[in-house]
Amino acid sequence: MDKSVGKPLDRVDGRLKVTGGAKYSAEYPLEGLVHAVIVTSTIASGTITRVDSTAAEKAPGVLAVLSPEKPPKFALDPSKRVGFMDRTVHALQHKRVDYQHQPVALVIADTIERATHAAALVKVQYKVDKPKVNFKTAKSQAYKPANILGQPADNDHGKASTEKPAAEVDATYTTPYEHHNPMEPHATTAVWEGDRLTVYDATQGVFSTRDRLAQLFGLPAENVRVITKFIGGGFGGKGSVWSHVVLAAAAAKAVSRPVKLVLRRDQMFAMVGFRPETEQRVQLQARKDGKLLLVRHETVNPTSVFDEFTEPSAFQTRMLYASERIVTAHRLVKLNVGTPTFTRAPGESTGTFALESALDELAYKLNVDPVALRLVNHADQDPESGHPWSSKSLKDCYRVAAEKFGWSKRNPAPGSMKDGRTLVGWGMATATYPTRRMPASAKATLLPDGTARVVSGSQDLGTGAYTVFTQIAADALGLPPDRVRFDLGDTQMPETPVTGGSWTSATVGSAVKVTADALREKAIALAVADASSPLHGADPKKVQVENGELVSGGKKESYAALLKRQKLPSLEVQMSSGPGEEVQKYSMHAFGAQFAEVRVDPDLGQVRVSRWVGAFGAGTILNEKTARNQIMGGIVMGIGMALMEEAVLDERTGRFITHDLADYHVPVNPDVPDIDVTFVPETDPYINAIGAKGIGEIGITGVAAAIANAVYHATGKRIRNLPLTLDKLLTT
Ligand code: MOS
Repeated sequence: MDKSVGKPLDRVDGRLKVTGGAKYSAEYPLEGLVHAVIVTSTIASGTITRVDSTAAEKAPGVLAVLSPEKPPKFALDPSKRVGFMDRTVHALQHKRVDYQHQPVALVIADTIERATHAAALVKVQYKVDKPKVNFKTAKSQAYKPANILGQPADNDHGKASTEKPAAEVDATYTTPYEHHNPMEPHATTAVWEGDRLTVYDATQGVFSTRDRLAQLFGLPAENVRVITKFIGGGFGGKGSVWSHVVLAAAAAKAVSRPVKLVLRRDQMFAMVGFRPETEQRVQLQARKDGKLLLVRHETVNPTSVFDEFTEPSAFQTRMLYASERIVTAHRLVKLNVGTPTFTRAPGESTGTFALESALDELAYKLNVDPVALRLVNHADQDPESGHPWSSKSLKDCYRVAAEKFGWSKRNPAPGSMKDGRTLVGWGMATATYPTRRMPASAKATLLPDGTARVVSGSQDLGTGAYTVFTQIAADALGLPPDRVRFDLGDTQMPETPVTGGSWTSATVGSAVKVTADALREKAIALAVADASSPLHGADPKKVQVENGELVSGGKKESYAALLKRQKLPSLEVQMSSGPGEEVQKYSMHAFGAQFAEVRVDPDLGQVRVSRWVGAFGAGTILNEKTARNQIMGGIVMGIGMALMEEAVLDERTGRFITHDLADYHVPVNPDVPDIDVTFVPETDPYINAIGAKGIGEIGITGVAAAIANAVYHATGKRIRNLPLTLDKLLTT
């Protein structure tokens, strides 16, 4: 029987999605459902002096208005953070306002229209303070965070070289505020039955949402059920429990009715995180042959005045290249903005823009080919830990992508490759993202008809999780994928972590694999011990399962026949799996190479990406189609990051004025060329049970730098401030 893993299987949930059968969190038509609308602050700093909800309370259909004057009650102060993904929640507990769009009231009514109307009638008065929102002026008060996700904020590795460098780059790069912008808005539907709470939530973590709500409402975790069957994109923004989730549950409690709360698009630009802007200094010193003597990467980003999030832009600099000395530092500045959060390869996407741009600048100073410069500095082991790589195919990625792209035909002189009047530029950059894995569990059940049901809490962000876990379980059980039903998205299923950090395939996939393997072994053990089975007495190690039939030495029996004779309604195994000592022995990362061609209009400065070739080493590719789709999506986001995406903060009011998809630009089809993605063959025996590295985030890394480097090649203009808009090209 052919293995399913690796095959470009269509999404098992594809039909449900295109027919509208896939239910998202705002689509549960519960009996008696009512609607909540959040009133958010119109100032970025100050104190509420009065909330006048008289008119709103009298408006038709209104059931309740909550505010700091009539606050919901919690068992735990919602501003307290417990879990590592937790954010300070603003749930109408106090009158202090620290950012624009902070919740200041909540209106619950029988229809969304009436709730929206009544929300407009709530009058909030403030004592207004001058907001601190100017990153540039506040930077003098930058401070060092205690740590970043358990890692030190700073490090200084290796020895200062006494050699005089042949070339040096010391430049500052900036990236702007960016927003996640999933198509599906954040949405929560909450239902109470006595002291039991069920929440349908657009979340990347059903269990972390359960735990946060249980803490805040003083309930045992088993009294809270969180269901998330489908998510229309999250990109890190749905990785934490934000204020609206807590408010939806509080609203449902206040009116004793199921409540639905959907954020408006403009609210999503303020109260559910974003990527903070960054200012990054990169200093490189190298010998004549390109060998790096010093790499210094210092970065600073804004966080909120009440919470801390560091964009870890210098993390990849600690491990990406071999250098005599590597120095990195992260700093924070507190501003009157909402708390920033994980956004599409947090750290690596912004960090590789700076580092990989600086390497291109160095290549020009040394007159060395940019690929050759990276090969000279290839890290044969992890420079920071000294550990060997569990696997690394970066050299293959450079070679394969360069060949497909035709890199050897590049004339390195800026402005040398024209097509008529159009300036053509070729640029490249390295892509990298860590391979992580968390503990997770799964349950696998053989059913009397010989099919299997496999479940694991988890989430599918739209990436293909349902599909690849079906494939992994099918292979382990010796079943075709259409005889396996995989289900997820419910805290009543075995526990798993948040979907983030590109770890879900490795994490949940490994748990599914060990669980399904154990179930197959359990069925085999039953058969060989059963005097009535054709396999009785066979060596269990020699029994294969193919197409649902246990086979050994020409004898066979199906799962269905075995269960029937054993009078078993089902056969079930539940198991957990997690990282082991391999994480102490090996450094684990995926790597890739991004090659871009741009066309620049010499009069208008307009940049078009005209060609893309990327090659990636990411271990076992579980599904050729969904994996390619993941990488393409990442590259499209990278094109957006390079050329369009920029959230503009009004420094007078502290409000993001780009707060819809008309003003905040993301790529559309004509902005995206054909994207050529290759996965180089890579076997990694160390990382996890399925040998797969994460591919959710590596696609975006290196993209902005490859484009900036191509733009330099086309124009001779080095733009160090994203996005690369035409005004910068016309004035630089
Ligand atoms: Mo991702 S930014 O870790 O959801």
